[in-house]
Amino acid sequence: MREVAVIGTGITKFGELWDKSIKDIFVEAALKAIDDASIDHIDSIYVGAMSGGLFVGQEHLGAVMADYLGMAPVPATRVESACASGGMSFKQAYLDVASGNSEIVLAGGVEKMNDGADVTAALASAADQEYEVYNGITFPGLYAMIANAHMYEYKTTREQIAAVAVKNHKNGSNNPNAQFRNQITIEQVLNSSLVADPLRLLDCSPVTDGAAAVILCSMDVAKKLSKNFAKIIASTQASDSIALYQRKSFTTLNAVTKAADLAYKLTGLKPSDIDFAEVHDCFTIAEIVVFEDLGFCEKGFGGSAVVEGMTSLDGKIPINTSGGLKSKGHPVGATGIAQIIELSEQLTGKAGKRQVKNARIGLAQNMGGSGASCTINILEAV
Ligand code: COA
Repeated sequence: MREVAVIGTGITKFGELWDKSIKDIFVEAALKAIDDASIDHIDSIYVGAMSGGLFVGQEHLGAVMADYLGMAPVPATRVESACASGGMSFKQAYLDVASGNSEIVLAGGVEKMNDGADVTAALASAADQEYEVYNGITFPGLYAMIANAHMYEYKTTREQIAAVAVKNHKNGSNNPNAQFRNQITIEQVLNSSLVADPLRLLDCSPVTDGAAAVILCSMDVAKKLSKNFAKIIASTQASDSIALYQRKSFTTLNAVTKAADLAYKLTGLKPSDIDFAEVHDCFTIAEIVVFEDLGFCEKGFGGSAVVEGMTSLDGKIPINTSGGLKSKGHPVGATGIAQIIELSEQLTGKAGKRQVKNARIGLAQNMGGSGASCTINILEAV
């Protein structure tokens, strides 16, 4: 396998994009990435999307986007792994270049969630239909069960969980593309509407329209085109039972620990070598569980790590400097690519007010459903 770099990024504003179609936003992000990379051709395209069909009635998104970009007959593939579709699209693009099959590849992600679909039902199609969804559970409900288990097993407090949302909104206030740029307090989180006990409105990622794209290429091409870029040093994935009730524990996500173990083994890195990370905070409790499962602290101490500032922008390991899914927004298929964009901006010193000092190695963790699929990508500054 040869070395692969990320040399261009493009992203739309995240939020309610009523005046644009799913094709418009994907093309907007893709053209920005192509322009940023200063390239004149692409060998193949990957499109991460959870469900164009359920959200806007449009499937076949690989060919649709290649056509709308004016790039047919370039090979174009849609990649689906629920909310991890973006991260998996990036992994397929990485393998395409690393294997020598392609020289320059576009990895994108898109979702248009606000166009009238029953969003909660569409999202629930990524959970176990025959037991979980049949009995009425939704994703807020599944993560509420994880939160209750964590609070019971580790004495994690409601305030510690709320602190994740407060930190991420603070980071997102400095991200011009974020859906919610307002800062919030612990009291506001605790007093927001109850969604699924104990999770409240301000514990949830929102319903978002958005697209993101990055350009990957071989190191040889990258060195000719740019002096300031990041390289990919690990791209791993793992899976777990789709249904929460089938797991031994609600408070450890096995797909996350497996994908992380593999990434650390491949790179020879320890969790303490990671300078910052973007993690999948679809609900506040998810950030705490994932932080622990990535090995950044001992199991059970994820809540106190947030309150003590370990994960803040100026902390020992800043988490979700982009604002995370909570503040930046969660257009499910685009999320994994947006995480890579934050890594790339941090590692090339372009993150502005969100910049992590001396950022050399960043990790992105993207997962589907209640953690049945997970991909981890680690990037290093060159
Ligand atoms: N964070 C902050 N504010 C939010 C928000 C969120 N997650 N969701 C909505 N809001 C705001 C809206 O902007 C609106 O503000 P306004 O009154 O000032 O305009 C207000 O709260 C009500 O918005 P509305 O769209 O009516 O909320 P809702 O009750 O329909 O939806 C949730 C709220 C939390 C249920 C919805 O965002 C949701 O389902 N989130 C989870 C998505 C999910 O499961 N993703 C997959 C993860 S696995």
